Amino acid sequence: MLRTHTCNQLTTKDENKKVTLTGWVHHRRDHGGIIFIDLRDRYGVTQITFDPAVNAQAHKAAEHIRSEWVLKATGTVKNRGEGLRNKNLETGEIEVFIEGIEVLNESKTPPFEINEHMDHVREDLRLEHRYLDLRRPKMQENLRLRYNIMTFIRNFYDAQDFLEVETPIMIKGTPEGSREYLVPSRLHRGEFYVLPQSPQQLKQLLMVGGIDKYFQIARCFRDEDLRGDRQPEFTQLDVEQSFVEQDDIIAETEQMILGLTEKVVPHKNYQSFFESGKIKQITWQEALGKYGSDKPDIRFDMAFVDMTEERLGCGFGVFESVDRLFTLPVPNGSDLSRKDIDTFTKLAQKHGAGGLAWVRVGEDSGPVMKNAKPEFIEKLIEKTGTKDGDLIFFGAGEFLQATEPLGAVRLAVADKFNLRNNQDFAYLWVTDFPMFEIKEDGTVGAAHHPFTMPNEEDLALLDTDKTKVRSYAYDLVLNGTELGGGSIRIYDQALQHKVFETLGMDEDEIQMKFGHILKAFQYGVPPHGGIALGIDRLVMLFADAPNIREVIAFPKNQSAQDLMLGAPSPMPEKELHEQNIEVLEEEV
Ligand code: AMO
Ligand code: AMP
Repeated sequence: MLRTHTCNQLTTKDENKKVTLTGWVHHRRDHGGIIFIDLRDRYGVTQITFDPAVNAQAHKAAEHIRSEWVLKATGTVKNRGEGLRNKNLETGEIEVFIEGIEVLNESKTPPFEINEHMDHVREDLRLEHRYLDLRRPKMQENLRLRYNIMTFIRNFYDAQDFLEVETPIMIKGTPEGSREYLVPSRLHRGEFYVLPQSPQQLKQLLMVGGIDKYFQIARCFRDEDLRGDRQPEFTQLDVEQSFVEQDDIIAETEQMILGLTEKVVPHKNYQSFFESGKIKQITWQEALGKYGSDKPDIRFDMAFVDMTEERLGCGFGVFESVDRLFTLPVPNGSDLSRKDIDTFTKLAQKHGAGGLAWVRVGEDSGPVMKNAKPEFIEKLIEKTGTKDGDLIFFGAGEFLQATEPLGAVRLAVADKFNLRNNQDFAYLWVTDFPMFEIKEDGTVGAAHHPFTMPNEEDLALLDTDKTKVRSYAYDLVLNGTELGGGSIRIYDQALQHKVFETLGMDEDEIQMKFGHILKAFQYGVPPHGGIALGIDRLVMLFADAPNIREVIAFPKNQSAQDLMLGAPSPMPEKELHEQNIEVLEEEV
């Protein structure tokens, strides 16, 4: 090694030792005569001191040294005098008086200072120079945490006799929902591989292959609109098991995630959200009906109260004409100003509501109070358990239209009143998802994916009222973020075929897209199921990071670009030609 110690090693025990340190210049202070440099490496910081009385040549060299230069410095460890000790540093009791210095590499002035005060630095600048950003202790801590989490996960599944199996990155289109990234084939003109959205079908085929217990820390690719908790490529903990039921997958995953929580973030308050000593489970129907979300944040309560029955004959036209009526009681909500209410109304409308009616309990204001019969108001106050000074918001419409906008308002109100505490870690299982959903374009899609097992009690509804079919799909939610999702799978060829048909596919399309699965399903398929957890999201929440880019070494920005590498980038004509690709002048 070029060094004898790291920058976090030396203490008073090492006094008078001759040592060699290597690292980056974190800080340089010239105290007229004596120069101090904080030398930094991954492990920490050590103060190295240049005193002309100790070595004039080294002192002279230090005069020219600047931030982020890479040094190799040799000298003698000395205890710092009383009052000069730095309690915040592991090495704060000593300094090294330098006798010889070698500049291993100089540095341009970095575009931002390497410290923890990054608020004023544009994220794109950090991403363009990610190698500089990664020198910051916080980023190194995040990567260390990520590694520790992955190591824990690997050890956990290893101890339970799972096999980690790698699955290919270049596969056939496996439509699961989002758009896929394509890879052109040079050898097979006009044909494409796609990058997997997840190893979903491959892990099911591993079950057909008798692997029994599979896991993988797997890279996934999705060409979808990006948000703070979404990246075009991300990492899943992917799990699949044979001869299991929903409760088995839930129990196993729960054991892993709680073990991990206890190991990595034991200070978080997570047990107080348990029910009977376990992570609470609620159905999808209940999640929407109480919280207006399929990934409810239950760190705070503020549950809806269903007024669908009571609304009949209430005297307020908007409420009488709709399918369902839900209310969101806000304790002391009268503190909310008209401006706040307007903001929440816009939010509700953005989420599809016709409007956001409200009542200030004990006050005679607003259209509901003016129009609704006193009996209704009385029932309302009784059923919601509200008192003077509280406020009640209303969501009216079909089930989803009445609940989802109110769910968005619930979160905004919680933020307004500071009800979301980061020290809380509220896990929640959401079960019984619907099998199908109506997509934006009005067509029917799989709510989870088409390999999910419909609830046998609802099979008859496949032909009559498919949106009512429930499935054996479950999500793990943490503080309002979807951490993972999975399902028990269909293992019967005929039922799988039927689900494809229900999704509106004809025989040709079924064979083209999923012929390989139906073929494999002819050869003895074990009942199986599994789950996948988003590792980036998990690390983000464990690190209290504001978005997943903070816990990924080289993330893409919000426009799916890698600013450091400059990807995506145009390709030379020759290479495109070899790949049989022609780029159109204009977007079609
Ligand atoms: P699903 O699509 O729910 O399930 O994905 C599982 C988990 O992966 C994470 N995730 C993402 N993380 C970052 N960026 C993204 N773009 C992104 N998309 C998803 C989420 C999510 O909960 N094959 C099924 C699993 C199964 O059925 O076993 C699947 O992929 O945390
Ligand atoms: P309008 O009759 O449109 O003036 O609406 C009367 C009140 O009902 C207003 O406060 C609206 O914001 C509210 N409102 C209208 N549609 C809905 C809806 N679907 N859900 C909740 N409130 C609504």
